[in-house]
Amino acid sequence: MIKYLDQIEVQGKRVLMRVDFNVPLDDQGNITDDLRIQGALPSIRYVLENQGRLILCSHLGRPKGKRVPEYSLKPVAAHLSKILGFEVPLAPDCIGPEAEEMAEKLEPGKAMLLENLRYHEGETKNDPAFADALAKLADVYVNDAFAVSHRAHASVVGVPSRLSECAAGFLLKKELDYFNRAMESPARPLVAVLGGAKVSGKLGAIEHILQRVDKVIIGGAMANTFLKAQGLATGSSLVEDDLLDTANDIVAKAKEKGIKFYLPVDAIIAQELSTDVVIKTVPVQEIPEGWMALDIGPASARLFQEVVEDAKTIVWNGPMGAFEIDLFSQGTRSMAEAIGNAFALSISGGGDTNAAIKKFGQADNISYMSTGGGAFLTLLEGKVLPGVKALEECSSKG
Ligand code: 3PG
Repeated sequence: MIKYLDQIEVQGKRVLMRVDFNVPLDDQGNITDDLRIQGALPSIRYVLENQGRLILCSHLGRPKGKRVPEYSLKPVAAHLSKILGFEVPLAPDCIGPEAEEMAEKLEPGKAMLLENLRYHEGETKNDPAFADALAKLADVYVNDAFAVSHRAHASVVGVPSRLSECAAGFLLKKELDYFNRAMESPARPLVAVLGGAKVSGKLGAIEHILQRVDKVIIGGAMANTFLKAQGLATGSSLVEDDLLDTANDIVAKAKEKGIKFYLPVDAIIAQELSTDVVIKTVPVQEIPEGWMALDIGPASARLFQEVVEDAKTIVWNGPMGAFEIDLFSQGTRSMAEAIGNAFALSISGGGDTNAAIKKFGQADNISYMSTGGGAFLTLLEGKVLPGVKALEECSSKG
């Protein structure tokens, strides 16, 4: 059993909170989407209101153990200061004497942020000395970083193994609660909508969800592999040829279990992926040589809409096409609208999926947009997140 933040004492304590502030930044270093920061605010505010001394830590990007300036958490510290209405100082490093001194001097009800954890390769390697140095900053540990809880990194698993008081933050709790509502005890029919480029990245998830769902919709480039596996010509579409048999096995398994399995029936095709190309709408049986499917077509959009209209629970991961380009965005737009309009518990996960939901104005109509990408997929694969396991082990100590 894990403990939650409101079950531990934080008053006067140095609370090391792992958050996932791995947010998208534009060329000028401005945060373009602060969903993850907003998501962590309830836990942050709770610690501050309860007079904890809050030490926030996060990674940003993948600087691979080097101090890469573009990956500094400086913009995040500034953004957070603005939201909280007081200055949240950024420690020059995440470990070492300066961070320790700042943490020691931190007053109850105040917060500081440590510089990017991944400036040290000890973070991703879960190096014992690095985990020791981080743990030294804390009296208690809180994980509110759902989006990185699938990584067995020092700040996710190493630190809680070194401390006797650990808890899950409110965002982590909310993520797990929503996921369990959708996948463990769903109102039915439960429909999974999967898209994106590759079957390979979602194989584990597809296999696992076949044990749970009533209907599966496959869109995006990954549908091409299923279509080719059924003997259709897919032109120059992205296909994973080594997974054709696997794709057929998945369809056969779904059939065996009585799961309804939906693939696109038509596609928007072009000769290249570009903003300025000739496009055609064709049945999936008629993709010519040299042309590629880049979005689902209007008939597929209508078909998929009918499927989700009837759903009581919907889990969505992956766009229906190359939605960043207007010419290929209609399929993803209509899916976002169909899910947004459905009288269902709807949960989405993954950066692209959430970006599409926002782009098409459906954010308020989705029951829950997960802050996780890889972590969301790991749950869909039926696995326990290492970060959650570490909290369980920490709680069982005390
Ligand atoms: C994410 O963006 O999915 C998380 O922040 C994890 O980042 P990572 O894939 O670089 O570990």
